[in-house]
Amino acid sequence: MTDKQILINIKVVDFQSLDEIYRDLVEKAKLQTSISYAPYSQFNVGAAVLLENGQVVCGNNQENAASPSGLCAERVAMFYANSQYPDVKPVAIAIAAKNKDGFLPNPISPCGGCRQSLLETENRYKSPIVTLLYGTKEIFVIDRISHLLPLAFSQEYL
Ligand code: THU
Repeated sequence: MTDKQILINIKVVDFQSLDEIYRDLVEKAKLQTSISYAPYSQFNVGAAVLLENGQVVCGNNQENAASPSGLCAERVAMFYANSQYPDVKPVAIAIAAKNKDGFLPNPISPCGGCRQSLLETENRYKSPIVTLLYGTKEIFVIDRISHLLPLAFSQEYL
């Protein structure tokens, strides 16, 4: 038997130490939480995608009475970016979430389905997407989506 270890590097930073472009992206993700449609969970998530031309595409979670028909903020934002600007690669995504008590102290962790979808985009454009996960106590910066989904299923298997 052999053991394999997978190392994931996460930078833990505070808001002030981020570059201005990332601070702006985080602010936009936070703003999105106030216009999300989450009447069932009261859990409001916002996402902001930075494209390589500097444009920012935003989204937020959209729930549904038939719960599987809703969609997470990350996919709303990234699918919109990919569908409307297919020739412009996304270079970063910021994600923020709040519940009834306000923004979460710990960085929000994207769900598995979102990680898989974001990875598809990273692979599609063959370029890393920096992920910023916002929390009031600290912010996680991850250099590429693939680090969020070790042993991912991808087109290589098809
Ligand atoms: N949600 C997101 O928008 N992104 C995530 O990464 C995790 C969960 C949404 C889905 C649902 O509307 C609510 O948060 C509670 O799960």
